[in-house]
Amino acid sequence: MFYDCRTRDHGLPHDPLKQCVVPRPIGWVSTVDGEGRVNLAPFSFFNLVSENPPLVIYCPVGAHAEGGEKDSLRNVREVGEFVVNVATWDLRDAVNASSAPAGSTVDEFELAGLTKEPSSLVRPPRVKESPLHLECRVAQVIRMPGAFGGVANCMVLGEVLGVHIRDDLLQDGLLKIDRLQPIARLGYQEYAVVRDTFTMPRPTRVAVAAE
Ligand SMILES: Cc1cc2nc3c(=O)[nH]c(=O)nc-3n(C[C@H](O)[C@H](O)[C@H](O)COP(=O)(O)O)c2cc1C
Repeated sequence: MFYDCRTRDHGLPHDPLKQCVVPRPIGWVSTVDGEGRVNLAPFSFFNLVSENPPLVIYCPVGAHAEGGEKDSLRNVREVGEFVVNVATWDLRDAVNASSAPAGSTVDEFELAGLTKEPSSLVRPPRVKESPLHLECRVAQVIRMPGAFGGVANCMVLGEVLGVHIRDDLLQDGLLKIDRLQPIARLGYQEYAVVRDTFTMPRPTRVAVAAE
């Protein structure tokens, strides 16, 4: 089949687009506003986009349930810092609970039964139950094409300042994915969990034959 994405005229019961780019890692983002009110929400429009300096993005698209920008966007505009907590299999219900369209004054740590742990370099707290955290400083907030509910879609670009890794995830100096068990977003209501990995060395340099 082919469909024109501009009209979304796919003729299927559900739009397949988000099932076409999978799996998407989930950045579970904690922020604070200028008064110290904490927010926590998952973002699957999320990724590591550069290594040196280490840069991550997450994209708040659409409006807050009460109107205006989502808390995860408004807060970083105010404070300029965020933490990415890794979403794992064990924490899947809490990840989902923290995505509820709650009021701005609601603390999603409490809503999802999670514990706050102070960060080392930034003001937003970490999710203690998550075994891996990236402490980030905002580099840029980029306005993307499109809007929903009167709010422009945005991309938050952040520099990773510090990384916490729970010691038991490490073996022989390597971070073991079968211990981390991160979850990822597919389309529809589906998720994946990463447990199986394989190793494939990069090809060596191919010499260009002289003419
Ligand atoms: C797994 C998952 C991934 C999500 N990814 C995104 C995303 O990439 N962008 C977005 O705007 N909302 C996403 N959402 C919805 C937000 O988490 C939700 O709107 C949340 O309440 C954010 O609003 P807040 O910043 O005001 O708390 C996702 C929800 C779930 C469960």
